[in-house]
Order: sequence, then C-alpha cells, then structure tokens
Amino acid sequence: MAFPATRLRRLRRTGALREMVRETTLRPADLIQPLFVRAGEGAGEPVASMPGVERLPISALVEEAGAVHAAGVPAVILFGIPADKDEAGSGAYDEEGIVQLAIQALKEAHPDLVVIADTCLCEYTSHGHCGVLRDGDVDNDASLELIARTALSQARAGADAVAPSDMMDGRVAAIRSALDGDGLSSTPILSYAVKYASAFYGPFREAAGSTPSEGDRRGYQMDPANGREAMREALADLEEGADMLMVKPAVPYLDVLARLRDRTDAPLAAYHVSGEFSMLKAAGANGWIDERAAALESLTAIKRAGADLIVTYYAKEAAEWLTK
Ligand code: PBG
Repeated sequence: MAFPATRLRRLRRTGALREMVRETTLRPADLIQPLFVRAGEGAGEPVASMPGVERLPISALVEEAGAVHAAGVPAVILFGIPADKDEAGSGAYDEEGIVQLAIQALKEAHPDLVVIADTCLCEYTSHGHCGVLRDGDVDNDASLELIARTALSQARAGADAVAPSDMMDGRVAAIRSALDGDGLSSTPILSYAVKYASAFYGPFREAAGSTPSEGDRRGYQMDPANGREAMREALADLEEGADMLMVKPAVPYLDVLARLRDRTDAPLAAYHVSGEFSMLKAAGANGWIDERAAALESLTAIKRAGADLIVTYYAKEAAEWLTK
C-alpha cells in the first residue's frame, strides 16, 4: 500500500501516539557508570577534557557510587590510577592495589551495586601499554599471565564481574581458567571483545595517565576499517568463555554492533567512550547543540543498534534526565 492510503505521519501526530509505537526505550537500568579511583586522600581531581569527571580517592568514590546507584544506575566500572607505575604493571595485580581496595570499600558500602573491574595493565605500566614489552613489542603470551592475575585479584576483592580491555589473544580463556581454578567460577567476564584502535580514547588517557610513551596500540587494538574481523574477535571470545561482549567505541561503530547483534544471543554492551562524551560536552558548552537531547539521542541510537547495556560517562546524568 502506498500514498495516499499509507501516511506514516499519522502515528507521529501526538506525543502519546509516538510513545505507543516507540521501538526502543532507554532506561537507567541499561547504563554503567565508569569511575576513576586514585591512590591518596583529599578531593577529587577534575579531568580537564571531561567536564564533571574526576579522579576520586576511595572515600569520595564510595560517595559518588552511592549517588550513581541512587539515580537508578545499577552498575559501575572501575579504573584505577596507582601511586606508582612499573614495567610489569604490578599495581594492577597487587592484592592491596588501588582498584582492589576500592572494590572492597564499594561492596561494603553498597552491596547491591554491581561493581565491574576493568582488567588491563595500561594504567599501571610505566610505558602505558596494555601488556608487557619485549624488544619494544607487547608480548601477548607473557601478558596473559599478568592479566589473569589481575582479574583474579579483582574477583577476590569482590568484583561482581571482570572486564578485560587489553586485546591480547587468549585472555578470556586465561582469565576463565584462573578464576575457575580459584573457586570463582561464578564471576562473569564482560569481554571488550571488539575494541578499536580509536582516536576517541584521548580524554580517557588524560584521565588515566595511560598514553603510551612510545608507539601506539595498533598492534593489538583493531583497525577501524575492519568489520568482519570484529565478528571473529567476538565469536572467539564467546568460545573462550566470555559471558557478555562489548563493542568500543559506540556511535562510530553502530554497524558493527548491529551485525554482532545478529550473530549472537549473548548480552551485548557498547562503550560510549571518553571522546564521544567530550565532544557532546564541548559542543553543548558552546551552545552549538542541545547537550541533553544529543546525549539521549546518542544513547538511544546505541540501544537501537543492538546494545543491551551502555557504558557511558553520562550514566548518572542520563538516569536523572530519564526519571525527572
Ligand atoms: C584500557 C582502556 C581504555 C579505555 C577503556 N579501557 C583506553 C585505551 O585503550 O587506551 C578507553 C575508554 C574511554 O575512552 O572512555 N585499556
């Protein structure tokens, strides 16, 4: 049936009609708030390129996580900024490391908040790479053991899930076997299965102080030009035992997310990354766009493309917008 019998505008006429036929609903329960925790005491340190985001000492982190949870956001993902870094990233798998202590404090204060630990070495290595270096290159297999140790220490500290973001081959299997070998077979793995070597991570690297001192991450993160390869990465991680998969960044890679949605019934997350957040903040602050509308539109589009969950620096703010 064609025009004039068909008029698609009929169902757009009023807000109530539009709401009845809306296909995608964004809910606070879909969101995960990233938080940066730093060693030391005192006040939060603002991140210049990410308005409203701070590197928080543990006491302030516990308070902020409570506010995030009260806004209706069920989960946080934690990034640690240690006092010292070294070649082997030993702060990442220190039982008394910053993230391990933060997890304990969060679970004690907010037992119902889902605490996810980002599992990577890059915030802890002096060179800023996500694994250990050998002859200037990131050594995949030598890194696996340290990444598995990191995940194990996070799960032992009480993390509800671990989320490897390093992009080493075989890390999901290595983590699963380390967890299972320690009686932690119930701890899920949220794998950053499809993680691109993206220019949109710039503000995060300022926040975490994790810009590689030499080279870049293109030897392990994916080439932005590749879509089919993303399916191979994702299916490999599922086979290794990943419980949930993540695509990162989000908006520039909605095609990848939609393709993956068709290929798996596993829960899918998308990471609306720091650069995506900073662009919206900057344009909004300049009065060039309506920040709130553009942010909610971006997050809705990520769900429409197939994400069940969205990691976003907007989580708390968006939850407040959605419920006010
Ligand atoms: C660590 C990690 C990164 C991000 C999440 N985990 C940075 C990177 O790979 O350089 C980026 C998140 C963001 O930009 O918001 N491997």
